[in-house]
Order: sequence, then C-alpha cells, then structure tokens
Amino acid sequence: MKFEEVKEQYDTYFYETFKRFPFVAERGEGAYVYGENGRAYLDFMAGIAVNSAGHCNPRVVEAICDQAKKMIHASNYCYTEPQGRLAKLICDTIGFEKIYFQNSGAEANEVMIKLARKYGKDNFGENRYKIVTAANSFHGRTLATLAATGQPGTAIQKNYDPFVPGFTYAEYNNLAAFEAACDEDTIAIMVEPVQGEGGVIPATKEFLQGLRKLCDERNMLLLFDEVQTGWGRTGEIMAFMGAGVKPDAVSMAKAMGGGMPIGAMCTTAKFALTFGPGAHGSTYAGNPVCCAASYAQLSEILEKKLYENAKTVGAYFAEKLQALPGVKEVRARGLMIGVDFEKEIATDLKYALCDAGLLVTAVRPATIRLVPPLNVTKEECDKAIDILETTLPKFI
Ligand SMILES: Cc1ncc(COP(=O)(O)O)c(C=O)c1O
Repeated sequence: MKFEEVKEQYDTYFYETFKRFPFVAERGEGAYVYGENGRAYLDFMAGIAVNSAGHCNPRVVEAICDQAKKMIHASNYCYTEPQGRLAKLICDTIGFEKIYFQNSGAEANEVMIKLARKYGKDNFGENRYKIVTAANSFHGRTLATLAATGQPGTAIQKNYDPFVPGFTYAEYNNLAAFEAACDEDTIAIMVEPVQGEGGVIPATKEFLQGLRKLCDERNMLLLFDEVQTGWGRTGEIMAFMGAGVKPDAVSMAKAMGGGMPIGAMCTTAKFALTFGPGAHGSTYAGNPVCCAASYAQLSEILEKKLYENAKTVGAYFAEKLQALPGVKEVRARGLMIGVDFEKEIATDLKYALCDAGLLVTAVRPATIRLVPPLNVTKEECDKAIDILETTLPKFI
C-alpha cells in the first residue's frame, strides 16, 4: 500500500493523538525500520524504548511463533507454563519475591498504586493512602497514573480533571521537598530513577538513598517506576541496582516484552497478603504469548549482557553527541540519552532527522531523546552522528 493511501485511512478514521513520521513502518530488523518506500531508517527511538534487543529479534520471533501454535490465550483462571517460567526468571534475577503481570506500563503502575493504597489501609487505617510523586514525572495515561504524573496544565492532563485524589508532587532530586510533602497519611513515595518523558533527568544516588531512609523512618513504601529504565536501558539490569537502593515495589514494561504488550510489578514478600483472590485482575495480563516473548527477550538481554553494551556504547555515543554544534548538555545513563540544544528546535529537528534517515523523539522543546536498541553498535552510533552533523546546521 502507498503511504498516501494509508495516511488517508488515518486522516479519515483515526483519533490522531500522535503526530506521526511521514512513512509507513513495514518491517524492522535490528536497529533499522524499513518504510513502505523500501527506505531504511536508523531507529534510535526503538518503539519508544521497547525494542531493546533490536527489531524482530529472531529469538523473540521464534518464541512468539512457537507459543502461538500451542496456546494464545487461556485467562488467569488457568496455570500456564510461560507465565510461571517468566515469573521465576524476573524475581530471581532482580531479587524480588512476588510478581503481578499487566499489559502495559500504565497498568503496572496502576496496580502498584492499588497495592500501596490497600497495604496502607489494611495495616494503618482508612486515611493512610496518599502518595507523593515527583514534579515533571510521567507514570502513564490511565486516570490514577495521570494523577500520579506531575505535569499539571500540560496536554497530558488538561481537562481530564477531577483527578484521582491522594497524590502530591515534590521537586525531583530534592530530598527536603519530599520530606516536607509527606504527612501522617502518606503511605508511599513513587519515582522514576531517571525521568524519561520529562527530558531524561537522572536521579542522584543520594536522592534515591535519602528517599529509602525517609520511607524506612516513616513506615512508608518506596515505589520505583522502571517502565522505561528497566531491563538494561541505563547500563544496569534495573536502575535501582546501580543506585544501591532496593524499593519495596518496582514496575516494568517496555523492554521486557520485546514489542509484545506486557508489564509487571514486583514486590518483596512483605506484601504477599495484600492481594488475595478478587483483589485485582485482568483478562489478558500475563498472556502466554506475551510471557513467552518476554522470556526470550529477557534471556537475550541477560545472556548477551546487553546492559554492558548499553554502558560502553552509551558512553561512547554521549561523548560524540556532546561535541555536536548547538548542543548545550547531554545527559546519559547507558543508552538512555537526552540532548539539550541551545534553542527550542527539538520538534522540527526530529522531522528533519527522519527525512535524513534517523528516528528520535522530542521530549522537551529543546530536548531530543535517544534510546536505541541495547545491542546497537558503535558504527551505527557513528552513522547517527553523521546524520545529526549534516542536519543540525540548518537549525543553529
Ligand atoms: C516511566 C514511565 N512510566 C509509565 C509509562 C506508561 O507506559 P505505557 O505507555 O506502556 O502505558 C511510561 C511510558 O512512556 C514511562 O516512561
């Protein structure tokens, strides 16, 4: 099908909440997406930080095909082998005792919020349900995760009020602000170890360690949203491992599914009694095909130590990005990289880069985000630098 025909269908029938790139994504392989025009695009947005083992990683493709022939969906009334195997792999790898599967990042956060509320009320009384999150955070688009998202007044939140009550925001990386925002009704603090949608802003180790201490002192739960940072993106298997801070619960999605819709929340055994039969549920969550894909994807990331490649290639790439004209600051944790420019050029630059064959996202008016697959090579990063070098002069 031609681009114009596909676009016409979208224009006619679709609620367009995204401003799309002007090509039809037909095929993906490794770090490349191929358009309907046969053109190759170097994909440094990786399906919004999802395709961490590369597009159509053969191991993931095989797992999906094999499982689809046996059982596509059974529901959570049944035991399925892929779900049990994946639960063990995740819990054993990151040192948590319990897991709950979901279909997306927002839903993984939603269940983490529900768990914190129920734990608070079950153990400390009716008023103990408040959660403090960070200003400039992003936790998802469902009504509770939207309320948790600290971006008042933006398109993300505007006119979706009244919001789910019980959330307050405090300045990120400011321990005193979090301390002041917590009161006797606060049950949890929830943060991203690196704010992704907020512009790739890493938390300091001192901040995360301070939050851990604060939560311990006040009998509160520390919740980490690792939907974007999880499974190798920051150069660590999970970002919390690099910070030396273990949260009470952690959410994940994106990279864990290799492109299949799956998310999860892990907790310590302390919360085992919080959720019993009927306390939460979902028709699809932990679906066997998604779990089989996730097991293959995580095995690929872990066995090939793609998080280490993220660390070394990320450092190499960040240094080259810093040397580009018009760049004000580069913030990198592994292969999660934010580039601030002197001018507010991010959106126009994004489309110009697409025309030149490189896909990135614009997360702030002056900031682009680069989150290539974790197995990207230095040569592919050099190619991205070449494209940036030839495109940037038009904007600075
Ligand atoms: C930190 C974080 N949390 C939650 C979400 C929401 O995930 P999903 O889009 O899968 O619902 C995102 C998505 O970008 C995210 O970056």
